Amino acid sequence: MGFGLTNIKIIIAEDYDQMSAKAAHIMADEISLRPDGVFGFATGGTPVGMYKELIRMRQAGEVSFAKVTAFNLDEYYPIEKANDQSYDYFMKDNLFNHVDIDHSRLNIPNGECSDPVAECISYEAKIAAAGGIDLQLIGIGLNGHIGFNEPADHFTNATNHIELTESTIRANRRFFVHEKDVPRHALTMGIRTIMSAQKILLIANGEKKSGILEQVLFGDITPKVPASVLQLHHNVTIVIDKPAGAKIAARI
Ligand code: PGA
Repeated sequence: MGFGLTNIKIIIAEDYDQMSAKAAHIMADEISLRPDGVFGFATGGTPVGMYKELIRMRQAGEVSFAKVTAFNLDEYYPIEKANDQSYDYFMKDNLFNHVDIDHSRLNIPNGECSDPVAECISYEAKIAAAGGIDLQLIGIGLNGHIGFNEPADHFTNATNHIELTESTIRANRRFFVHEKDVPRHALTMGIRTIMSAQKILLIANGEKKSGILEQVLFGDITPKVPASVLQLHHNVTIVIDKPAGAKIAARI
């Protein structure tokens, strides 16, 4: 079902747990189809339950990450990998240390690099050398950002070094002890990088995401709502819970 379009499939789950399970199964099915595929991962509060389910599935022998290559969407800049708020730390803590993935095939933008521009160019080149991303998981920010592509006057292109907006810094504030510790920059796949993935899986939960999802799906395609560009992608699956779907349920 995609409100008359065939490129966007929307699944409204009962609750967060069901959203997490459905999204985990979609990714696991894709990994079964392409055991040596290239998969894009995301951080944030939303995917934690999905990652728990993937770990359970791995332990039950239902999926193997042994030949998977992973690319993460983004990372704060600058940040040390050992910082428990880095996305490097998050991914290992929430998924990669608990599944059979080969750590030499994990790719996360390096928040410790000395030259962020060179790091972005090298990251984009690594994605290209891997043959591009088969399935990219993304969350969505309250302001419509995907990865750390913030509302702007133009869509970003390749992986780039960006300044975070006040809205995102505020949303991230809860994870840091002091406001001054919240990083103000990030390295992120660009909109073109994300749009180049063969398939995109977007997950969101909670009533607070319902308004932005309505804008993303039914509003204008504009860099002021970066995720609205997904309307132009050929294969998007959106898995959300009922509260997040509150404003769109009647329109799909
Ligand atoms: P969240 O973040 O999962 O913590 O809501 C999503 C995002 O900002 O992309």
